[in-house]
Amino acid sequence: VTPYVVGSKNPLAVAINCAAKAGEWIKSRLGDIKAVNEKFSPQDLVTDVDKGAEAMIRKLILTHFPSHDILGEEGVAPGAAASAAAWQEASSSEFLWIIDPLDGTTNFVHGFPFFCVSIALAFKGEVIIGVIYDPIRDEMFVAEKGKGSYMHGHTNRVSADARLEESIIAVGFNPDRQAALINLKGITALSGKARSLRAGGSAALHLAYVAAGRLGGYYEVNLNAWDTAAGALMVAESGGKVTDTAGNPYHVGARNLIVSNGAIHQELMEVIEAAGATGN
Ligand code: IPD
Ligand code: CA
Ligand code: CA
Ligand code: CA
Repeated sequence: VTPYVVGSKNPLAVAINCAAKAGEWIKSRLGDIKAVNEKFSPQDLVTDVDKGAEAMIRKLILTHFPSHDILGEEGVAPGAAASAAAWQEASSSEFLWIIDPLDGTTNFVHGFPFFCVSIALAFKGEVIIGVIYDPIRDEMFVAEKGKGSYMHGHTNRVSADARLEESIIAVGFNPDRQAALINLKGITALSGKARSLRAGGSAALHLAYVAAGRLGGYYEVNLNAWDTAAGALMVAESGGKVTDTAGNPYHVGARNLIVSNGAIHQELMEVIEAAGATGN
């Protein structure tokens, strides 16, 4: 890992440092998982590594910013109702860190090397910092509100695809059965319209890849704030667009998302709407 500033009070440096440390540790535990548990179903797993990474990140953040609040996936009971309640409570925070300690747990459990750490900082509900770290490829995606989005000194720009038929679109097989059925309707409609589809199994990396121009867009319903907060800022700072499936601008409570390079956004929205796959 590139050496990052340690012990700094700069929140971006702290976010990068947390993501690097947690990511390195997660990578060291690949193939060495002590406990795998189902949250609700065999589709929704949590491991000791998810929990350990979250504990590590929380501790580091609080060392630097003891008065800040933290919303982390593993600190919230599973299910849409609990996450909505947690979000409700957290949304009144002044400084709120929103963390997904391990996005792509299913991949991690199966040794499929596509997962990341996602860390965002919101000020009065608006995301101002987003960091997504892929420890396998040692790719640190970083975004700062109003200051752009970078990956190892390289500016991220969304793809130049003008049409859906020229774009690769990422999709998700959501762990929730009901949501998965809605997603499948959208996926069916998108296949044949987009150039190709990919389901990488990490919402945050899908967002980072749209920001970096590796994907033209991404669609999934039933996401949580920790999946999207860092990546949504990154896409916006890279010249792309993130809305909910009704077309409203991204906010941290939005669960059903359409993400794109901007140029294909309308087309993507229309396909999902026509398929009855908005999840609204
Ligand atoms: C999941 C992944 C997956 C997406 C799910 C998320 P987790 O997060 O991002 O790609 O389809 O909606 O819940 O549980 O691996 O952090
Ligand atoms: Ca999870
Ligand atoms: Ca996640
Ligand atoms: Ca997670």
